[in-house]
Amino acid sequence: MNDPNGMYVDQDGLYHLYYQYNPTDVVAGNVHWGHATSQDLYDWTNQPIAIFPGEPGEGIFSGSAVIDVNNTSGFFPNQTNGVVAIYTLNTPEKQVQEIAHSYDNGFSFIKYSGNPVIDSNSTQFRDPKVIWHTPTARWVMVVAYPVDFEIGIFSSPNLINWTAESNFSHHGITGLQYECPNMVELPVVTSGENSSLPSTLWVMQISINPGAPLGGSITEYFPGSFNGTHFEALDSTTKLTDFAKDNYAGQFFYNIPSDQDQVSINWASNWQYTNIVPTGQEGFRSSMSIPRGHYIADLERFGLSLISYPYNISSVIDSELASNSSLGNGTVVVDYSGVESGALYFEANVTNLTDASSLQGTLNFTFTSSATGEFVSGGTFISSGDVWLNRGHIGALSDNPFFTAKFSQTGLYNPSSGSWNISGIIDRSIIEVFLNGGELGATSVFFPTQPLDLMFLRVAGLNESASVSVGVWSLRSTWL
Ligand code: FRU
Repeated sequence: MNDPNGMYVDQDGLYHLYYQYNPTDVVAGNVHWGHATSQDLYDWTNQPIAIFPGEPGEGIFSGSAVIDVNNTSGFFPNQTNGVVAIYTLNTPEKQVQEIAHSYDNGFSFIKYSGNPVIDSNSTQFRDPKVIWHTPTARWVMVVAYPVDFEIGIFSSPNLINWTAESNFSHHGITGLQYECPNMVELPVVTSGENSSLPSTLWVMQISINPGAPLGGSITEYFPGSFNGTHFEALDSTTKLTDFAKDNYAGQFFYNIPSDQDQVSINWASNWQYTNIVPTGQEGFRSSMSIPRGHYIADLERFGLSLISYPYNISSVIDSELASNSSLGNGTVVVDYSGVESGALYFEANVTNLTDASSLQGTLNFTFTSSATGEFVSGGTFISSGDVWLNRGHIGALSDNPFFTAKFSQTGLYNPSSGSWNISGIIDRSIIEVFLNGGELGATSVFFPTQPLDLMFLRVAGLNESASVSVGVWSLRSTWL
């Protein structure tokens, strides 16, 4: 599989996640919309394929889904929970936008007889993401013109007739293609001092592939404003959603209530190597990230930023494996060979940072296979929160120059607060780390020949006044 598609939460609170799915091979191609559902965003039940291509050579490319509560489309005279999927039909001749509707809560779809609903006579025009825009009481779509580096903004009263309103073009890092745009309104969370900021901002998020700074695929975003027809970025800065290489084509759920944090899920892979990662013999390739919750915060030095934190992670925490409220210099060792899921959540909080002597201090974590010695590691400088990850000590793909081994990012530690924290989730073949509750994040896949089963969390060179508390928990098995 690749991109997440059509994500929405239905009126019973069931989350629907469709995804680019090749049912006949373990490489990308022959794309259908696979479907999975979940009550809690962690336990997923795979469902029958939801949308099939019509004939050979067709692909049901990425797109989105909405609930047409008010029957604007006319498809749903007798129900308020009708679902409309809006996706790209890819053929060798062109890419067009199509719709399909579902009477049965998103499990099966009927393609609209008047398709396509948007045809711009182009082979490069895809990935429609539709939202309901309350102030103008109509549907709004963002869709990529990948090789023109433009995001088209369309509006519609009924999901069938679309009007081109504007283009958001040539912003940020272009790479060689723009893909999978999202436009979402998010609350701006302030500490109180910044009351001049608006209570919400819009974010335009664009995935880029190929041509990311670290190679292959990456996602960038722009905080800004949206007036119903035009998106305007606040400034010319480009921000990335991740500092590693496996966070792509993310999508925000439709219909998350506005009094809850908006949630996204990302495809945890990179087109540079996704088709050759060594899980093919096990009959699958690729996974999604854990769900991320979002809001906007005004970070010192970094400005208005999209915060991406592990959403409701406490709901999958199983039992505490280690905890130390004042570690000082020392090491916590956790043997997690008995954890059925093979997955852990860990957290470290650094407080009372008072002077530069803690400059020497480091906080490192390593996950090792006791059978083979393979390991994934990461760490930070205590004084700054500068952070790194290293997946280069795992055999698989280590000689592939595109499977980059090391990633790092300058920390966003704010000296006046005297504290910062790092948290992370490690599963069998993916690590996701978060600084300060999602101010920075990294998503990285790795493929050990034997399970990683020993964790070391080590603090060294800490000055006396600073203190570090750590905790490690097992995550319950969610593989159904
Ligand atoms: C992004 C992407 C989309 C396209 C889909 C095809 O990863 O290239 O632009 O719709 O994958 O599977």
